[in-house]
Amino acid sequence: MNVFLTGATGFLGGELLVSLAKEKDVKKIYCLVRAKSEEEGRKRIEKIFNLHKDHYSCDRIIPIVEDLLDDNLTQKLADNKIISDTNVIVHSAANTSFSRIYDTLIEKTNIQGLKKIIDWSKTLKHFDKFTYIGTATICGTGFKNKLVYETDSPNMDSLHFVKYTYSKMMGEFMLNENLPQEKLLILRPSIIMGDSRPWVPRSYVILWTLASLNLLRLIPVDKDSKLDIIPVDYASEAITKLIMAKNLKFNTYHVSSGTESYTTPFRTTSVISNYYNDRPDFKFIDRSFVKQMKFWASGRLAPDNELNNDKIYLDYWEKTMGDKSKLKILFAGLEPYFEFIELSQIFDNSRMLNDIDIKQSPPTHDYVKICAKYLDNIDVFEGALDP
Ligand SMILES: NC(=O)c1ccc[n+]([C@@H]2O[C@H](COP(=O)([O-])OP(=O)(O)OC[C@H]3O[C@@H](n4cnc5c(N)ncnc54)[C@H](OP(=O)(O)O)[C@@H]3O)[C@@H](O)[C@H]2O)c1
Repeated sequence: MNVFLTGATGFLGGELLVSLAKEKDVKKIYCLVRAKSEEEGRKRIEKIFNLHKDHYSCDRIIPIVEDLLDDNLTQKLADNKIISDTNVIVHSAANTSFSRIYDTLIEKTNIQGLKKIIDWSKTLKHFDKFTYIGTATICGTGFKNKLVYETDSPNMDSLHFVKYTYSKMMGEFMLNENLPQEKLLILRPSIIMGDSRPWVPRSYVILWTLASLNLLRLIPVDKDSKLDIIPVDYASEAITKLIMAKNLKFNTYHVSSGTESYTTPFRTTSVISNYYNDRPDFKFIDRSFVKQMKFWASGRLAPDNELNNDKIYLDYWEKTMGDKSKLKILFAGLEPYFEFIELSQIFDNSRMLNDIDIKQSPPTHDYVKICAKYLDNIDVFEGALDP
């Protein structure tokens, strides 16, 4: 099998690259990577293996320096003889930002960029499978407090908090329109956060949210909301097994914690609090308080406002963060995450558990202790600028 992988420099894509490289049936992996030169592209790929001292074979792992935003990408890939023996595409690259300022870029990357890869796949002589790393959250905001099944999406009537989930949904429609069902494998991870192995995670994506909650301590979400979160090592193990499996029953799978291994804000923060006892206890309040928290950050909170009952937290914020305007940025970055948390969605994982040899994922409140020590390394204010 010769794999063409996009997004290898990302959080999940990096783990996928390392894990696919260990498969003996995988002969070559061509990695689409953004870089200014071939040399820089090779260095970016080598770094992925170096992080956890995995073996890097430069004969098998071949960087292909390109950009999904390039208008001529399809033609350039078609003209590249090196990659013409590709038979499996794994498309993991995406713009995963929740920020509105990137809406246009998200469409260009996640929809138009995907189209270019689909068009190239049609030119391949030995093309076998297009694996699309989607997201379970394409079900949209209509599913609240629900167990979501693979068959619930994609649905054109679904509503979305952010362009990212919309663009990933549109990607699935486009794949269905352009490729035959037997050539499609759509894998939809739920939320990927941290790593359950005893080492630094490849990226702080999503863990940024937990670091922010750990700093704030006063949290405007329902503490018992259900959160379908999996660690990146579990996501990459499941995805690799699904890619390598022969005769799968379906062409769409959730890669998720499901009903057995979900967590809640309360359970996960309870574990974290054991590691940081220099700050006030976690307290959960109604989400409507976000507005008042923003007022406080802009110095406009009325003296008789209910939020003043939690003065201990307001004083703590002032003492630790000094500049209140930083909190305004933090709240703005966190707002879509608060909305997602309260959707309380669980993604059914029975297809995955039945069709490949994998156990349930560890619940976040079990493995998060491994990530706890890294939380203070995360610059939450920088993360809030590009949530
Ligand atoms: N993380 C999660 O919680 C989660 C959950 C469900 C599904 N997913 C899906 O999993 C996939 C991987 O997510 P991730 O967490 O690994 O994301 P990530 O860490 O943000 O990585 C994104 C990857 O896409 C690449 N990319 C972005 N724009 C590109 C462009 N114009 N041309 C070429 N490459 C480009 C990035 O390359 P650079 O390094 O050059 O920027 C990077 O390798 C995505 O499709 C996402 O939708 C993620």
